[in-house]
Amino acid sequence: MSYLNSVFSVRETKLDNAPVSGGGLSENQKFSYGYASSPGKRSSMEDFFETQICGVDGQIIGLFGVFDGHGGARAAEYVKQNLFLNLRNHPKFISDTKLAIADAFKQTDSDFLKAENNQHRDAGSTASTAFLVGNRLLVANVGDSRAVLCRSGKAFPLSRDHKPNQTDERQRIEEAGGFVMWAGTWRVGGVLAVSRAFGDRLLKQYVVAEPEIQEEVVTDGVEFLILASDGLWDVVSNQDAVAMIQSIEDPEYAAKRLTEEAYRKGSADNITCVVVRFHHK
Ligand SMILES: *[C@@H]1O[C@H](CO)[C@@H](O)[C@H](O)[C@H]1NC(C)=O
Ligand SMILES: *[C@@H]1O[C@H](CO)[C@@H](O)[C@H](O)[C@H]1NC(C)=O
Repeated sequence: MSYLNSVFSVRETKLDNAPVSGGGLSENQKFSYGYASSPGKRSSMEDFFETQICGVDGQIIGLFGVFDGHGGARAAEYVKQNLFLNLRNHPKFISDTKLAIADAFKQTDSDFLKAENNQHRDAGSTASTAFLVGNRLLVANVGDSRAVLCRSGKAFPLSRDHKPNQTDERQRIEEAGGFVMWAGTWRVGGVLAVSRAFGDRLLKQYVVAEPEIQEEVVTDGVEFLILASDGLWDVVSNQDAVAMIQSIEDPEYAAKRLTEEAYRKGSADNITCVVVRFHHK
C-alpha cells in the first residue's frame, strides 16, 4: 500500500445520496483521472468502475475501467476486482500488451463462470477499459459501455458497441447456433441486449468475453478520454459529451458534469463515467 500511495495521490468524496466521485494524478503528472457514479442504493447499483496506477518495469501505467452489470451486480463486481489484477500479473503485460489484455479478459471470464457454478440466475457484465503504457493508449471493450477520445476538440469513439443486431455480431451468433430476436430491442436468444459480455453462462457460446482492442498514440492533440456506461451514451452524443467538458481541467469535476447531465436528461439507467486527462508540457 505504501508503494501505491507513493506513486499517486487520491481523494474521494462520498456523501449519502450524492454521486460517488473522486480522482487522482500520476506521479509524473502526465495524466490525471476522475470518476463519478450515479446516486442510489448500493444494492440496486449495477455499475462498477476501477482506476489504478502502478509501476511496472520502471514505467507508470494507468488502468481504467467501467463495468455495467446485468442480472445483478455479481459479474460486474467480480470483473472490477479481478480483471486488472489478472492483467498486471500477466508475464507479457509490457512486452505484448494486446495479447496480455486478451488473455486477462478470457481468464477473468472463465474464472467467474467457475465461481458461479451453483447460482440459479445468470449474471453478466460489460467492460470498457483503457490502459496507458507510456504514450500508448490501448482500449479494450466487451459490450455496450463506450470509450470516446477527444482529439483537438473532436470526438473519436475508440470502441464499438457490441449489439446483437450488428451484421458481423449477428452472423457470429448465428454461426455458433444461436439467434437474435426482437423483444423490445434486439436480443441474443430473445434475452440479452448485448452481444458480448463477461458471465452469462447460459448464453456463453454466443455471448463471448473476447475484447476488441484499439490502440492510439497519445500525441499533443489528444486531450482526454471518456469511459462511460450506456446510462450516459443513451442520452448524450459523443460530440456533446466531449464539448461539454473540454474546458474543464479537473477530470473529477468533468466526470460529475457528465453524470449530472445524463441524469438531467432523464437517463433511467445507472450512470458511471471515468475521465482521463492527458497533460502535455
Ligand atoms: C441501476 O440499475 C438497476 C437495474 O437496471 C435498477 O434496478 C436500479 O434502480 C438502478 N439504480 C440507480 C441508482 O439508477
Ligand atoms: C440495431 O437496432 C437499433 C434499434 O434497437 C437501431 O437503432 C440500430 O440502427 C440497429 N443497428 C443495425 C446495425 O442494424
